[in-house]
Amino acid sequence: MIPREVQEHLKALVRIEEVVGEFVQLKRRGKDYVALCPFHDERTPSFSVSPRLGIYKCFGCGRAGDAIGFLKEHERLSYEDALRWLARKYNVDLKETEKDPGLQAEESRRESLYVLNEFALKFFRERLHMEPPVGYAYLKERGLSDTVIEKFQLGYAPAGRYDLRDALKQAGYSEELALQLGLLKRWEDTSEVYDAFRDRVIFPIHSLTGRVIGFGGRLLRKSDSAPKYLNSPESEIYVKSRTLYGLHLARRAIIQADNCYLAEGYMDVIALHEAGIENVVASSGTSLTEEQIKLLRRFTNKVTLLYDGDRAGILAALRGADLMLEKGLQVRVVLLPEGEDPDSFSRKVGAAAFAAFLEAEARDIVGFKASLLLEQAGRDPLRRAEALRSVLQSIARIPDSFARNELAIHLARMAEMEERTVLYELHKARRAFLEQYPADAPSEIPETISKSQANISSAGPSESDFPEERALLRWLILYGREPMQYYAAHNALGVDVCHRTTVWKFVRQNLSSDNYTFLCPEGEVTIGLLESYYEQNLTEESAFEYLKNRLPEEAKETIIRLCADAYDTVSEGWNKRFGVEVTHEKDFISSNTLHLLNALREERVRHYLKQCRDELRTVTHDEQLTEILNRIRAWEETKKELAQELGRVVLE
Ligand code: UTP
Ligand code: MN
Repeated sequence: MIPREVQEHLKALVRIEEVVGEFVQLKRRGKDYVALCPFHDERTPSFSVSPRLGIYKCFGCGRAGDAIGFLKEHERLSYEDALRWLARKYNVDLKETEKDPGLQAEESRRESLYVLNEFALKFFRERLHMEPPVGYAYLKERGLSDTVIEKFQLGYAPAGRYDLRDALKQAGYSEELALQLGLLKRWEDTSEVYDAFRDRVIFPIHSLTGRVIGFGGRLLRKSDSAPKYLNSPESEIYVKSRTLYGLHLARRAIIQADNCYLAEGYMDVIALHEAGIENVVASSGTSLTEEQIKLLRRFTNKVTLLYDGDRAGILAALRGADLMLEKGLQVRVVLLPEGEDPDSFSRKVGAAAFAAFLEAEARDIVGFKASLLLEQAGRDPLRRAEALRSVLQSIARIPDSFARNELAIHLARMAEMEERTVLYELHKARRAFLEQYPADAPSEIPETISKSQANISSAGPSESDFPEERALLRWLILYGREPMQYYAAHNALGVDVCHRTTVWKFVRQNLSSDNYTFLCPEGEVTIGLLESYYEQNLTEESAFEYLKNRLPEEAKETIIRLCADAYDTVSEGWNKRFGVEVTHEKDFISSNTLHLLNALREERVRHYLKQCRDELRTVTHDEQLTEILNRIRAWEETKKELAQELGRVVLE
C-alpha cells in the first residue's frame, strides 16, 4: 500500500509532457505538444499532450488519459507500478510500508533473489571479456555484434569449479539463496558447493520489466557428457510457464508491428535482433503455455511461428497452434528451409533477405495445415476426409465465429468441396469441442439467441453504456459555470418569464427535484465532487482538473476519455487559419443543457416503463394488474410531456 498523501504528492509533481516525452518524440505547438501517436500507425501527428490539463489525447485512435493512464496503456503497468515508475522518475519515496509483515518478508526475500542474480549477471558479463576471452570469441564466431551482446547482456561462466561461489562468498551473499536460484549446486557425497554454470556462454533471462530472473548457459563445444544448454531451475522469481525469452526487449516493437515472432531458442531471438527485427520472443524449446499466451495477448493477438522446415519443426508448429487458436490468437507460420533455424538462415542470406523472406513466407496456420494434410492425402477419399476433419478440429477452437466460418469456407475451396458440407461439419466439430471443454466456453452464445440478447450477456460495462448520463456529466464538467437562461410559465401573469442561472445550478436543481440517481459507475461520485467544486466556487483549477485530482482511478479514466475531446483545437484552428466559422457546442449552452437533461429523463422513463412491462408478465391477480397499468399510464404521460418540452413529436 502506498499512502494516499504520498500518491497525491507524487501526482502533483508529475508533468505529463515529461512522462510521455520519455517514450514519444514531442514537438511543441502553441501551449500543447504534438507527436505521432505511439498507439497506432500514422504519418501525420494526431497525438497531442496538454501540459495545462495534464492529459494526452489522440484524435486519430481516440486514446486519452493522464500520466498514469499513459503508463498503463503504453507500458502495460498496473496502477501501483505506474506510481512506482513515477516515483523513480521524480525521486519520491513512496513510503510503501503498510504491508503486513509476512508479505514484506516475502518481498524482501524475492528482492534478495533479484539482487543475487544481478550480482551473478555482473560476474558473467565481466568474465566475457577477461583473458583469454573464449566466451566472447565464441559469440563473435557465431556472428553477434557487440551491440547485440550488450543489449542481451550476454556473459560467460568460466570453466573453474568455484569461481562464482567464491565471488559470492567474498561479496557476502547467502549460499542458500544462490543454491535456490540454481547458480550453485551441492555435491551429494561431500556436500561441497560448486558452480552450476561452467565454461558456458550465458544468456540471462529477464522479466517483463527487465530484471534478471534466470540464466541459460550454452556449452562452447559439443559434448557427450553434458547437455548443450543448461537452464536455471524454477524459483520464486523464475516461473518458466510465465516467461518468454526476450519479451522485455520486444514489447514496444510487438505493439508497433501488432505481431510477434515466436522462435525456439535464445540464439534465434538474438539473430532476429541482429537482422533488425525486434518483435520476437522464444519459449525455450516448448510450445506456449496458456499463461504465456495470456502474456503475449497484452501486446498483440497475432503471432508468427518460426520453425525449422523439417518434420519435427512442422509437427511442433502444428501442435502448439491449437491452444493459441483457442485463446483467440491469429497464428501464422514461416517454415525455414530444411536444416536451418532462424539464426543459421539469417546469417546465410543476410539481414535484408531474411526480413523479406519472413514477410513473404508467412502463411496462415490453418491454411498451412490444410494444404499439408490434403497434399499428403492425395486423391484417397478416406484420407482426405480425415485431413478435413483434423483441420476442422483446429478451426472449431477459434472463439471468433466470423473467423471460423471464413476459414471453413476457405477450406472448402481448397478441398474442392461444397461450402455447405464443410460448414455443417464445422458446426459439429464446434459442438464437440464445446462439450469437451464446457468450462472453457462460458460465454458461448447458442445460435438460437438473438443478437440483442447476445449483446447483453456478453458485454461488460463499457463507455458506450449510459450515453445520456455520460453526456450530461461531461457537459457539467466542461460548462457547469456557464450562464444559461430558460423560460418558464409564470402562472400569476400568464406569461413566460426568462430565468437566468448557470448550467450547474439548473441541472442540479432539476436532478434533485427528480430524485435522480445515476446508474453509471462514475456518476454519483462525479456529481458529488462537482457539487463541492461549484458550490465553493473554486476557480483556481477547472472542474476537470479538480475531478482529475480526486476521482478514484476507474472513474477518472472514464471521465478523462469523456472530456478529452472538448480540448480538440481543430475548430479554433480553422477559425484562425481559414476564417471559417465552425459552430461549437459552446454556442448553444442553454438549449444543449435542456436537451441533455431531457434525454436523461426520457431514458429514465423508458427504463421505468420497461420495468413495469416486465412486471406485467408475472402478474397474478387483478389489483396488481390495475396498479401496474396506472403506473404505466403515468409514465407514458411524463414521457409525452418531456417530448413536448422539447417540441418534439412522440413517435412511439
Ligand atoms: P536448439 O538446440 O534448437 O538450440 O534448442 P539453438 O537455440 O538453435 O542453439 P544453438 O544455435 O545450437 O546454439 C532450442 C532451445 O531449446 C532449449 C534452449 O532454450 C534452446 O535455445 N534447449 C535446447 C535446452 O534448454 N536444453 C538443451 O539441451 C537444448
Ligand atoms: Mn541454432
